[in-house]
Amino acid sequence: QVSDSLYIINKFAQQFFTEVLFNTDEGNNAGLSYLKERGFREEIIKKFELGYNPEARDTFAKVATNAQFNESLLQKSGLVVARENGLQDNYRGRIIFPIHNQTGKIAGFGARLIRNNDKAPKYINTPENEIYVKSKILYGSYFARQAIDKADECLLVEGYTDVLALHQAGIENAVASGGTSLTPDQLRLIKKYTQNLTILYDGDNAGIKAALRGLDLALEEGLNVQLVLLPNQEDPDSYINKNGVAAFNAFIKENKKDFILFQLEHALKDAGDDTNKRSHAVNQVAETISKINKAEEFTKQQDYIHKTAQLLNIDESGLHNLVNKYIRE
Ligand code: CTP
Ligand code: MN
Ligand code: MN
Ligand code: MN
Ligand code: MN
Repeated sequence: QVSDSLYIINKFAQQFFTEVLFNTDEGNNAGLSYLKERGFREEIIKKFELGYNPEARDTFAKVATNAQFNESLLQKSGLVVARENGLQDNYRGRIIFPIHNQTGKIAGFGARLIRNNDKAPKYINTPENEIYVKSKILYGSYFARQAIDKADECLLVEGYTDVLALHQAGIENAVASGGTSLTPDQLRLIKKYTQNLTILYDGDNAGIKAALRGLDLALEEGLNVQLVLLPNQEDPDSYINKNGVAAFNAFIKENKKDFILFQLEHALKDAGDDTNKRSHAVNQVAETISKINKAEEFTKQQDYIHKTAQLLNIDESGLHNLVNKYIRE
């Protein structure tokens, strides 16, 4: 009941924001020109149903109240907030990215400032409610599912604009986690479509950390995980804008790394000559390998033990025992 009403409010809001973006002066001059300067074309903007929320205090709040939407539901949707002088728009002066669930219904929104500033966060998102549970949603999944199925691979990126840039470039098997590390529910969603996950996170420390945090979970879900780290300060959107899609595809092909081996190399680099740290790295990778722990994945696990022992130049049977120890724990 509440859920149904929230979906209706969200659809109503999206239609309003899209209308503003395309058919008002403010929408054109602020929103649409911003998106076009960033290289997004009308076709992709329309497909993903982007919009613009005007700067004024309560443009949407007024329209929604006139349309008889219930005030407490409007607040729950996150589109408006209650102030002493009445309801106020929450996403004033922002580009609106509707977040569709797997069935194509709009569960929530991300809203981006047109110009970054220090006082307000670049993005704000719908607060958790009956239909928007962040940990269960992947941005773009509705538009990506067929392509994921066809490619038998899911590309996971950080941001909304990365998904848009990739889809626009014809790479439609891409979804975004919204900047945070993956949750078990998101991994299960991916696994409904494919076993093969390629993570394309921003080439900064935050990106690396977020990627590493998802690894054990992904292995437990039985996914094959590969990782591509983009060059420093780049994300898929900026990379494609600078270098074009052919260069992007080539970069991906050349830099795709098996995730377990990536984790190991990363840990070894950190450890340097420190014996304690090196042995910690070995234990860590053994524990990770132990997560590949289903009967049908036995060969895969043996492969990793073999490759890791080679990489570390250590005795394979010793590593075997260590992995088995973690399996028993
Ligand atoms: N994000 C967020 N709140 C913020 C910053 C980021 O929710 N204050 C989420 C958004 O989903 C965003 C993703 O994390 O898309 C990745 O963040 P970032 O790389 O900083 O932004 P981009 O997606 O690259 O966005 P843009 O190119 O517009 O700057
Ligand atoms: Mn980032
Ligand atoms: Mn970006
Ligand atoms: Mn980014
Ligand atoms: Mn072997």
